[in-house]
Amino acid sequence: MSGLASQLPVAIVGTGSYVPDKVLTNSDLEIMVETSDEWITTRTGIKERRIAAEDEFTSHMAVKASRQALEQAEIDASEIQLIIVATITPNTLTPATACYVQQDLGAHKAVAFDISAACSGFLYALKLAKRLISDGAFENALILGAEKLSAFVNWEDRSTCVLFGDGAGAALLKRAEKGEGEILATDIGTDGGQTHLLNIPGGGSACPITIENADRRLATLAMIGKDVFKHAVTRMRDSANSVIERSGLQPADIKLLIPHQANLRIIEAITKRIDIPEERVFVNLHKYGNTSAAACAIALDEAHRAGRFGPGDHIVLVAFGAGLTWAAAAVRW
Ligand code: UT7
Repeated sequence: MSGLASQLPVAIVGTGSYVPDKVLTNSDLEIMVETSDEWITTRTGIKERRIAAEDEFTSHMAVKASRQALEQAEIDASEIQLIIVATITPNTLTPATACYVQQDLGAHKAVAFDISAACSGFLYALKLAKRLISDGAFENALILGAEKLSAFVNWEDRSTCVLFGDGAGAALLKRAEKGEGEILATDIGTDGGQTHLLNIPGGGSACPITIENADRRLATLAMIGKDVFKHAVTRMRDSANSVIERSGLQPADIKLLIPHQANLRIIEAITKRIDIPEERVFVNLHKYGNTSAAACAIALDEAHRAGRFGPGDHIVLVAFGAGLTWAAAAVRW
């Protein structure tokens, strides 16, 4: 596309989210593994998480979040041109979860595919969709973070099972018109040297599922939490600072920071380092735990609907996850 087209601004014009009804509290977990509400609360800030029903898949949650985003954006599903689902817990390894979403929504004109960038996935999707719209390839895009992590958690491993939950969040992006907001800057990064720190070792081509490795719970999340923690703080700090700077903003201009919801201690550490006061940081991990790619997407929608920011305000989203991956976006609403 021409230079002019590459300048086209892109706005987020609708958000939505969905979490399953079933609540799993820290006290419930005390019965399942050797843990305590006190340990989980002080080490993570999590009090409860949502668990999808057995017949409720990642795409079902994504569709519910999508409908809200479309309603807010006043766009019919038939008008969607692109659907990107960020997930590490797809309905099936193939086809992509986005294909199920396209069918259930009736978004038959949309090109649909998944991306796998773990907890940073929603912001990877945001960057990709923004670029594809501003280049003129698509007029709009529905981006999602959706996860059924409960299906990939080892419920006997206390070091991981207390951390994760299920849910989905959606955002509708389109070419910005006069008076609408704009995605000002995005940042994404990867360190493939740290794949061992957080992964699901089984279920892929490197370790296909057999009866033996299913018994060894190899198709569940494994994490070296302490090391992930350290990388999370520095990568999210740098990524958030980079989009703030490239947008020509100062930390004082940020109405709300929406960080990945993995651990309250990580959030506190990065906000101190970015120099944003606590009251301008959005936290909902006490209700949902870590929902990976869905976390920033759900938080964006909840903060938006709660009136934590409005037209003209600047917000920053920042995430970090397996890969290792990290990502940030600065947005003028
Ligand atoms: O979303 C992707 C990015 N993910 C993250 O950012 C997660 C980053 N990591 C973390 O949030 C933290 O490292 C955890 C919350 C996972 C763990 O907290 P920690 O302060 O790093 O604890 P630890 O793993 O060093 O474990 C400390 C102790 C150990 O016991 P010993 O060896 O000191 O006797 C663990 O066995 O806590 C024990 N422990 C538990 N005790 C009660 C681990 N899990 C539990 C538990 N309940 N659920």
